[in-house]
Amino acid sequence: MTFNPKHILGIKELTAEELIFILDTAESFKEINSREIKKVPTLRGKTIINLFFEASTRTRTSFEIAGKRLSADTVNIAAAASSVVKGETLEDTAKNIAAMHPDIIVMRHGASGACNYLAERLNCSVVNAGDGTHEHPSQALLDAFTIRQHKGRIDGLTVAIVGDITHSRVVRSNIYCLVKLGAKVRIAGPRTMLPPGLELLGCELCSNIEDAVRDADCVMMLRIQRERQGATLIPSVREYARFFGLNEERLKLAKPDAIVLHPGPMNRGVEISSAVADGPQNVILDQVENGVAVRMALLYLVAGGEKLQAD
Ligand code: CP
Repeated sequence: MTFNPKHILGIKELTAEELIFILDTAESFKEINSREIKKVPTLRGKTIINLFFEASTRTRTSFEIAGKRLSADTVNIAAAASSVVKGETLEDTAKNIAAMHPDIIVMRHGASGACNYLAERLNCSVVNAGDGTHEHPSQALLDAFTIRQHKGRIDGLTVAIVGDITHSRVVRSNIYCLVKLGAKVRIAGPRTMLPPGLELLGCELCSNIEDAVRDADCVMMLRIQRERQGATLIPSVREYARFFGLNEERLKLAKPDAIVLHPGPMNRGVEISSAVADGPQNVILDQVENGVAVRMALLYLVAGGEKLQAD
């Protein structure tokens, strides 16, 4: 199979075969990251612009590292230090950047659909690094990669995802990805943070964390996204931690060899206790490590994949 998408905008539009192809491609790049010289010439001559309108540590840094390890010229633009603060629109910003002929724009934006908007207007490839509450495709792919690394498969596993579901782009991309790859996905969170109709995506809604975590193979915790909440949706952080936080006691309900994932940034003592976050079942830094290989694969595939070698 060959797969060279022009853009990566979301997991929703990808097939199971395409998802597996991306994971397998990432597998082939992973080894480069532990070499002494961590660089291959694959994307030499390509220009990648990382355009971030929202804060990011993991995604921005790993897209930059991924581009550099593939020998692309990478440029980072943070909205706070750009002409956006002078009132320039997204469309004008993007058109001006596109006039400099980048091959790929990797964008994070607070508005759902902003990456699709850009992709419809520009000639270059667009990779979604997280848009509003819509999707975070590279996060779901690195999560799937990490689950496959630790469990050897995704098909047939039970994955519990707990937290602020309404405001999470990570959960939406993960549901699309894990359901397509054959996992059973359970979702739990406070009623005020559970959007109606989520079960239509093929997951099971649980009213409490215990039901979601019981006998699960993987437990993924999400933080409360206060920056996206118009109103306070929980009585207090303390109460949230009491009813929906993952502690050692609750983790015992999962399978003994269950793994714990978190996309970061973590709020220790809120959605996850430090004992679990640093405990033997956590694979959180593996997720971060795998993020580089997955993003190398995405950049390689949108840049042309195997066709690059033929040119
Ligand atoms: N998981 C994630 O998107 O982290 P950052 O916000 O640090 O990029």
